[in-house]
Amino acid sequence: MTTDAARPQERGRPQPSVPPSPRWSDDAVIYQIYPRSFADGDGDGVGDLRGTLDRLSHIVDLGVDAIWLSPFYPSPQNDAGYDVADYVDVDPLFGSLDDFDELVARAHDAGIRVIVDLVPNHTSSTHPWFQAALTAEAGDPARDLYVIRPGREGGDAPPNNWTSVFGGPAWTRLPGSDDWYLHIFDPTQPDLDWSNPAVHEEFADILRFWLDRGVDGFRVDVAHGLVKAEGLPDHVPALEASGEPVPSSSPTAASPFFDQDGVHEIYREWRRILDAYPGERILVAEAWVEPLERLFRYVRADEMDQAFNFTFLMAGWDAPGLARAIEGTFAAAAEVGAAPTWVLSNHDTVRHPSRFGVAEPPPHQRGIGPDDPQPDLTLGRRRASAMALIELGLPGSAYIYQGDELGLPEHTQLPASARRDPVYARSRGAELGRDGARTPYPWSASAPHLGFGTPAGEETWLPQPKGHSVLAHDIQNDDPESQLHLYRGLLRTRRELGMGRGAFAWHPLHDPRRGLLAFTVTTETAAVLVAANLSEVPIALPEAVGRPTLAASGPAAWDEGTLSGESAVWVPLA
Ligand code: GLC
Repeated sequence: MTTDAARPQERGRPQPSVPPSPRWSDDAVIYQIYPRSFADGDGDGVGDLRGTLDRLSHIVDLGVDAIWLSPFYPSPQNDAGYDVADYVDVDPLFGSLDDFDELVARAHDAGIRVIVDLVPNHTSSTHPWFQAALTAEAGDPARDLYVIRPGREGGDAPPNNWTSVFGGPAWTRLPGSDDWYLHIFDPTQPDLDWSNPAVHEEFADILRFWLDRGVDGFRVDVAHGLVKAEGLPDHVPALEASGEPVPSSSPTAASPFFDQDGVHEIYREWRRILDAYPGERILVAEAWVEPLERLFRYVRADEMDQAFNFTFLMAGWDAPGLARAIEGTFAAAAEVGAAPTWVLSNHDTVRHPSRFGVAEPPPHQRGIGPDDPQPDLTLGRRRASAMALIELGLPGSAYIYQGDELGLPEHTQLPASARRDPVYARSRGAELGRDGARTPYPWSASAPHLGFGTPAGEETWLPQPKGHSVLAHDIQNDDPESQLHLYRGLLRTRRELGMGRGAFAWHPLHDPRRGLLAFTVTTETAAVLVAANLSEVPIALPEAVGRPTLAASGPAAWDEGTLSGESAVWVPLA
């Protein structure tokens, strides 16, 4: 690194890692609840808000600052609720607006903020707006909410060559017409036309509806996708080194439908809406955008507050790659005066204990299935524990996906008949989809459905993997050596020492080529060495000899001055 922006990471020169006038979110630990798989209060096999309310104490005990709720809005559930049919209500599957209000009130009473998911790139095809567009005549403003264009070749071919992220063409012909509508995802998810001011007005109202109900912010789905290139030109893919075209949905692709400059104006508009409310309401970008300098444009001072750091997530179990991701993140964050974020898994990715247990992690939508080489979960879970010390040791904000705190692996044995992700059908099975990361949470080892629903409740919407029973919450709660206790301890120490707002610097021992990541986090009251050995061989840490450990990734992680392979520690330096 040679740029000025790299200076904060120079060895031995700690620099503040969060902006000078910090917001609550800058060091927040945010827990992602995927409601349909968190807890089922009414026994219908699908999680709901009542179930979430019943389990709120778990989140309080864990010690997080906020929850992010994946969609619970009325929806045909074709893409697990990311196909919204009404933006200002709760699907009866998940409960009611009263349940939602109760959840916000009880979370706030417990000091936990609540972020909801906003899906502005597309609606469900069952949304009344799209239904009206379908029957409207050409020239009717009802059609202008969506991207509807005449086909080529007299209407027989789609308007351009764009392909859907879920596979197949990104256009579907309107019934009985030469016109086609755009869907970057599934055909049941038509894209809205954000060049139309009416769409802006609708979403301003939607934001206000939830802000008025007391939400603390929004996770913005496909935040990089709303604005499409002028004239909807064909996509001309760049070529990989192998000569293969880079898929248009890849974060690095110069895509005519992702990361267009015009998208930022929308977030400036939303920033003004949020800032008119008391408290610090936040916007979080789900933007699969690279490089980091492009990603951090979403969190410039007058735009959003946070962007998910998928560069960190995708770096995997690779010390040089992780070191680059960490350095690049601090540099890009400093450039725009934003706080960094860190994330290891979510409902779209293969769960990281499984990713870390295979030699070559597959792309997320590809998944891992029964016919694939199975992850080494002893190794993967050991690495996941060490990675938790890296993620939660880094200053900034950190995301935990429900189940990370149990070290849950992916369900890699799902039969084809159980798969629900539209990716599976759209790709004709070439991609297994994301169901393996979405199985219902194991609350108690010996209860029916691992305690996910009511005792006499129905089958869970996705089968639970056998291996999750020994990892159930109740078992881990009783075991002080468990991953759950590790997470609670890390969050407590991080909070007590203020590490989330500490200053970051690489430690002189840092040597990614040997597999060692070593950095210090300096706060007003403490200096902590975070050391992670990503290699298989033990590494000596002379500076830490004779010092106690604040945290270790496992009982055998640390032996007086020597850090075991695939292990990490937090050591106090002052
Ligand atoms: C986001 C969501 C994903 C969904 C897609 C389309 O990437 O996280 O689950 O399928 O958007 O809305």
